[in-house]
Amino acid sequence: MSSSDPFSGEAITARLASLARHTDAPGRMTRLSLSPAHRAAADEVLALFRAAGLAAEIDPLGTVVGRLACGANDAKLLLIGSHIDTVPDGGIYDGMLGVMTGLAVIEEFRRTGRRLPFDIELLAFSDEEGVRFPSPFSSSRAVAGTFDAKLLEERDRDGVSRAEALKAFGCDPALWPTVARDGERLLGYLELHIEQGPVLESAGHPLGVVSAIVGLSLGRMNVTGAAGHAGTTPMHLRRDALACAAEIILAIEAMARGNDAIVATVGQLSVSPGAGNVIPGSVSFSYDIRSPRDAARVKALALAMGRAREIAEERGCSIDIEMTTAMPAAACDPALMAALADAAGEHAPELVSGAGHDAMIFRNVCPQAMLFVRSKGGLSHHPDEFTSADDIGVAAKALHDAVVALAEGNVS
Ligand code: GLV
Ligand code: MN
Ligand code: MN
Repeated sequence: MSSSDPFSGEAITARLASLARHTDAPGRMTRLSLSPAHRAAADEVLALFRAAGLAAEIDPLGTVVGRLACGANDAKLLLIGSHIDTVPDGGIYDGMLGVMTGLAVIEEFRRTGRRLPFDIELLAFSDEEGVRFPSPFSSSRAVAGTFDAKLLEERDRDGVSRAEALKAFGCDPALWPTVARDGERLLGYLELHIEQGPVLESAGHPLGVVSAIVGLSLGRMNVTGAAGHAGTTPMHLRRDALACAAEIILAIEAMARGNDAIVATVGQLSVSPGAGNVIPGSVSFSYDIRSPRDAARVKALALAMGRAREIAEERGCSIDIEMTTAMPAAACDPALMAALADAAGEHAPELVSGAGHDAMIFRNVCPQAMLFVRSKGGLSHHPDEFTSADDIGVAAKALHDAVVALAEGNVS
């Protein structure tokens, strides 16, 4: 880092600002997975990893990997990671902060010459947000050894498959089986991330320790009605797919409003043929249902699907429901949480993450835990996302101290 302070939040923020130059939409932070802007950002991260003395490469799924070897035979492996793809018109911290603080920690180990009893891999995942392709987390799944070859066939809205996008990115997706780490070697997975919610700000503390990550049910509903002339088709003879979808969307919202354990969102909708003077013939929309309680999420999804089918039938439309992701809630590892809590300070709150994270992919693979950093106004997936340089500096130091505690065996 250019600053003399090893955990300078200003220097880390400057790196985030530099990465933010790589965008698919000038003037906005839009870097969808495997886009040309993502490749430029991955190249910048690769160069930073190499400049820090890491053996670095981009793996077959597009993850930038930097390795710090301790030199011991049969050494265990600690993973530190987050992602560098973004949502459309998002912020510059979500994901990238975890990669850049991880890098600052490793730079400090190299600067001080500290010997660690384990190897570290720093991972900049490529596909966390799940915006471009139906299923998220393909690159972390490959590392965790839970990748499914079917994911290569998923297509984006332009009909480009994930395999084709990976090739255009410069990767060889056929090599995906080589990416999985040996689970026996894994000491754990740590991820530092902005909170993306208001809890830390209201608690007046810069850092928090995640106790669990919510479970997710993601998919699409495709409603088919009948297109027709907007002026000549009497109202009672219509099968308007958009009016049907609107009623379903409101029913999903009402279901979630009536259940404190659930949040539900429809964030993307495509209307066909999409003209002001044509009755919509078909509509496809996303759904995203989350809960820390798996049983509540599964029940809510069943209710939403049942109500959607009833509404479609009442309106003479047909409906096809695709479930792309069903991810259980992931409890974090108590020992790694304790290491993070000790490093984060006495008053660091514990909190549940309502956002999905690559960390949840390591559930059942190795111990995993997350450190959250205060977000201004709790805002995220928004251009005004902000975390102060002071908080970032404190967070980087805490991540460093937690890794040192693991190295010294000071973990309960
Ligand atoms: C990712 O940020 C998600 O929670 O969807
Ligand atoms: Mn994120
Ligand atoms: Mn995000």
